Amino acid sequence: MFALLENCLNIFHIVGARPNFMKVAPVLNALKGRKNMVQTLVHTGQHYDVNMSEVFFRQLGMPAPDVYLAVGSGTHAKQTAEIMIRLEPVVVERQPDIVLVYGDVNSTVAAALVCAKLGVRVGHIEAGLRSFDRTMPEEINRLVTDQLADWLFTPSEDGDENLRREGIPPEKVFCVGNVMIDSLVRLLPSAENTGIDGLPERYALVTLHRPANVDDSVTLKGILESLVEVNRDLTVVFPAHPRTRKRIADFGLTAGQLCVLDPLSYVDFLGLQSRATVVITDSGGIQEETTYLGVPCLTLRENTERPVTVTLGTNVLVGRDPDKLRSELSRVLAGQAKKGTIPPLWDGHAGERIAAILAD
Ligand code: UD1
Repeated sequence: MFALLENCLNIFHIVGARPNFMKVAPVLNALKGRKNMVQTLVHTGQHYDVNMSEVFFRQLGMPAPDVYLAVGSGTHAKQTAEIMIRLEPVVVERQPDIVLVYGDVNSTVAAALVCAKLGVRVGHIEAGLRSFDRTMPEEINRLVTDQLADWLFTPSEDGDENLRREGIPPEKVFCVGNVMIDSLVRLLPSAENTGIDGLPERYALVTLHRPANVDDSVTLKGILESLVEVNRDLTVVFPAHPRTRKRIADFGLTAGQLCVLDPLSYVDFLGLQSRATVVITDSGGIQEETTYLGVPCLTLRENTERPVTVTLGTNVLVGRDPDKLRSELSRVLAGQAKKGTIPPLWDGHAGERIAAILAD
């Protein structure tokens, strides 16, 4: 049995995958040192490689997880179920007052389900985002988590609008801005001294891991061919996600002409991103980071759950159309890339706003 200080609010943070770590760090920091609060960090182990997890904890200055569930990889059902099975006894034993979940990964929805069923109040950080594409596993995770959450912290007004339309009572919804940008603002100065030996001044930085892009051999082959074409004009630097690397090998494809790297640490990737001529990606978070940095972003998806990156930011959706990628890349190379502005409340203080609301 865990003896907690009397009259203390016991806050759990549940994280599991790479994009969660830069989101939890600012909230942990903002709550640290507040009177009458204790925090417990739970890592589900959805991502377990050192360079997908541990290095992020180190660079973001986070404490080691208090609880590690070591669930590892699996099908969606298996991974989600395993997280639920391993998390439930921890929640029963330690009795958190509030559980905070982050983003849209399987760890997010699994934790929200466990806590909602145990009657523990849930706060969802990065609530309200919608791609309106239910073939994306993350869209299912977002819809379910938002239905279960008691506090919904949105990064932008479109999130509030989506939640309103889905019938979430407005008093549960708080537009606090983008916590991921908090980490970016804090660590950007450290990223200035990073770099890769021999990299030319102008380059395209590429990331690719969405199941829709990498799990089908014909689609993945088409994208790699487009990237080889990009590489003729601009060196392509491609830190490859483990899933993508595995698929390239399984399908007998090659990305040999590109500068393929292992996944990079947070600070190294941020440095590369901030100096890139263009970023080509199918990630969600990178669409936001490039918008903040003012770096052109060409997104290899037909839709985005982060529309402000298109309406206000530097993001252009090119889908899987090689012609569109080609024409947008020519615009960038001709110095005519889309200019953007930073969305409201993406100012490095979202974590503090969340802490203030919870303390209230
Ligand atoms: C997950 C998230 C996705 C997020 C991405 C960031 C879900 C549904 N998806 O996708 O939203 O953008 O993380 O990376 O939660 N693997 C390793 N080492 C690791 C982790 C994974 O080798 O540390 C490999 C395994 O082969 C695994 C595969 O990557 O099967 C996929 O990992 P998984 O966590 O299932 O999903 P991601 O594709 O990483």
